[in-house]
Amino acid sequence: MTAGAPSGPAPEPVDVEALRARLGGRSPRIALVLGSGLGALAASIEDAIRIPYAEIPNFPQSAVTGHSGELVAGRLSGVEVIALSGRVHYYETGDSAAMRPALEALKGLGIRVLVLTNAAGSLKPELRPGDVMLIEDHIAFSGRNPLIGEPSDARFTGMTAAYDEDLRAAMLAAAETEDVKLRSGVYMWFSGPSFETPAEVRVARLLGADAVGMSTVPETILARFLGLKVVAASVVTNYGAGMTGAELSHEETKAVAPTGGATLARILKSALPAFRA
Ligand code: HPA
Repeated sequence: MTAGAPSGPAPEPVDVEALRARLGGRSPRIALVLGSGLGALAASIEDAIRIPYAEIPNFPQSAVTGHSGELVAGRLSGVEVIALSGRVHYYETGDSAAMRPALEALKGLGIRVLVLTNAAGSLKPELRPGDVMLIEDHIAFSGRNPLIGEPSDARFTGMTAAYDEDLRAAMLAAAETEDVKLRSGVYMWFSGPSFETPAEVRVARLLGADAVGMSTVPETILARFLGLKVVAASVVTNYGAGMTGAELSHEETKAVAPTGGATLARILKSALPAFRA
């Protein structure tokens, strides 16, 4: 699809049975989408089977540096999981439904809970680079919706409780157990790939956002459409544009993300056994 084109009908599906055959009898119910900084978590999955996206026909692939592209199935804290190490972003294709075949494949494999992670810019002085924010709600500021073109009535997906309350409670309890700070907040989706302007960051703050980023929201919408429970968290890599005077960069995102990523990995490992999938 060309850049800027509206989301169209769903792209070609992934062959779920072919993928299942490669999982060696595993039947996980929890999947994690690992954004910037969470790569190390994929490495700590035990008894892992790693399948590069390139080996899964029709699986969406990202070409963003700092994001690998493989599906990792195994155990984390004793819990069967699938981790997607790397995801395709709206800004790579102009298609906000680009992750749909991946999420449909997860659903087909029996996944019930989707854990989404990302890197984000903070809009609040108290939310510092290196901190982690639990997403309690979002604002789809890009205006794009991945369900545009979906013909079924299921497209009218309710988003009142998009981020599951029980799963969020499990994350907050895990953060307390681990003695790490975890603030809840609202994530605002800008399309990217350019960063926001200082004026846009002021608007985001006025509209009630706590963090800004370039992913996650389309996946949350698609996941809720598919009936998956969602829990999501942001690793803060910087203050929003104009808040400090410093220019923003992808290098900074990649350099800072692993710090908060390690904290988020600790919280997730501690929370996973409490996730009711
Ligand atoms: N804006 C958007 N996306 C981001 C940012 C930001 O400031 N930091 C990391 N990802």
